Amino acid sequence: MITIDHLHKSYGTKDQRLHVLKDITFTLPDGCMACLLGPSGSGKSTLLNILGGIETMDEGDIIVAGNHLAPMNKKQLELYRRKQLGFVFQFYNLVENLTVRENILTGAYLSDDPLDVDALAEELGIVDQLHKFPSEISGGQAQRVSIARAMAKKPSLFICDEPTGALDYESAKAVLHLIEDLNRKYKTTVIIATHNEAIASMCRVVLRLHDGALKSCEENEHILSAEEVQW
Ligand SMILES: Nc1ncnc2c1ncn2[C@@H]1O[C@H](COP(=O)(O)OP(=O)(O)OP(=O)(O)O)[C@@H](O)[C@H]1O
Ligand SMILES: [Mg+2]
Repeated sequence: MITIDHLHKSYGTKDQRLHVLKDITFTLPDGCMACLLGPSGSGKSTLLNILGGIETMDEGDIIVAGNHLAPMNKKQLELYRRKQLGFVFQFYNLVENLTVRENILTGAYLSDDPLDVDALAEELGIVDQLHKFPSEISGGQAQRVSIARAMAKKPSLFICDEPTGALDYESAKAVLHLIEDLNRKYKTTVIIATHNEAIASMCRVVLRLHDGALKSCEENEHILSAEEVQW
């Protein structure tokens, strides 16, 4: 289970404090797929970055697979990121001077028990791209590569920040399909931040942020498959 417990985050100086996350509390069951919705600036990326150990919190705690994040120092957070997390971002964040295969290997190297890169490439439909550099592949392919890199280490938590934000409809649907497959196959907990309301219908838990506050945390009774989702 993932627990977010009375989380607070603010930026700025003492006189000019911007409260970006205000007393956020919720839990996610292991292996679930969750969606984080909210307008631009509502705090989605900040929440994911704190959950991912990239940003620190001011108050509260987060518990992932029994690990309490609040008391962790830099080194411990780094280990947590390396062992437990897979990240996928809107603009892929691939290493430009490494081939696709090498990019995926950077994920695999972080694990004691990684997935096989060739089998993963086959599963994600990027076998023909393995020898290319990121500048030689399409956006949809690049996002598949970044998913492969994140999944190669078999993370327990898969964090996706606007994974389809830069993609056309068909590529976005394909990427959602892959995320859904990986969630089912490896029972990885997935949390997706997005502006796209349609993505919420394929997630078991739907979280809504507004102006740094959690407005609702609801369970979907009827979950659509990535194939059925339309927008
Ligand atoms: N490092 C920072 N320093 C100061 N303010 C920040 C910092 N990071 C984020 N903010 C502010 O925190 C608020 C929330 O930003 P965040 O990136 O979490 O929003 P978001 O919901 O992800 O938005 P979007 O949908 O546009 O990606 C914004 O007002 C932003 O300007
Ligand atoms: Mg964001």
